[in-house]
Amino acid sequence: MEITKTEWMQGFLRMAQDGWEQGWHERNGGNLTYRLRPEEAESVRDQMTPGPWQPIGTSVPGLGGEYFLATGSGKFFRHVARCPEENVCLLELDKAGENYRIVWGLTKGGKPTSELPSHLMNHEVKKRVSGGRHRVIYHAHCTNLIALTFVLPLDDKVFTRELWEMATECPVVFPDGVGVVPWMVPGGRDIAVATSRLMETYDVAIWAHHGAFASGETFDLTFGLLHTVEKSAEILCKVLSMGGHKRQTIQPDEFRSLARDFGVQLPERFLYEK
Ligand code: 13P
Ligand code: ZN
Repeated sequence: MEITKTEWMQGFLRMAQDGWEQGWHERNGGNLTYRLRPEEAESVRDQMTPGPWQPIGTSVPGLGGEYFLATGSGKFFRHVARCPEENVCLLELDKAGENYRIVWGLTKGGKPTSELPSHLMNHEVKKRVSGGRHRVIYHAHCTNLIALTFVLPLDDKVFTRELWEMATECPVVFPDGVGVVPWMVPGGRDIAVATSRLMETYDVAIWAHHGAFASGETFDLTFGLLHTVEKSAEILCKVLSMGGHKRQTIQPDEFRSLARDFGVQLPERFLYEK
């Protein structure tokens, strides 16, 4: 099948378009990667024309030999769904997980996203901790989450608890909470190491004054996760804009009741007394 018609490419393109429509991808902001199943890579092998090997900039031995769909560096999400062959690439990693080569896409030139080290290190952690189920890593410049990183302490406990309080569904959708990375230079190995450490515990990592990373099993679940977190951030921004005083909110014991009825485990460290 023609690669752009495959179900996994269609899911990738739909997600990029959804993110664009949310306003999370100004200019070239944000990036998306998908770890292919072996049979998915096999099904398009006839369309692969391998380019030269290039260093990833970090080492991901747990992903050696795998294939990834990735947005291109400097490419605009606005154009991804309309013209995937120019804005997206299919990558193959070498057996050591040190180098990649482009096997399809970026027909007008370019490289995979500058956040490839973060994406791949997150994939490596998530592949391990999810028993291979997680396949999608998404970076978006979500407006309200970014705004919160100027006024809340950059602390996993505070971000998780405040976001949980903003909508009853939140602790059910992200029961493990969210992690926060302090401001760091993007695009390199250091921020990739810091983010992938958080991915051991969380499915969402917020980058102070920059955006967020989310991980999930499918395009729908990963987009839905970040959409839920960002919606909650929007409500919190509104509450803070109304003076910030909460006359009433969801209490720790109420979260515990919710956890019981919905069959989720909420770590007690987020249910502190205020
Ligand atoms: P790329 O265009 O290289 O993907 O970078 C966009 C971005 O959001 C960097 O954090
Ligand atoms: Zn970014």
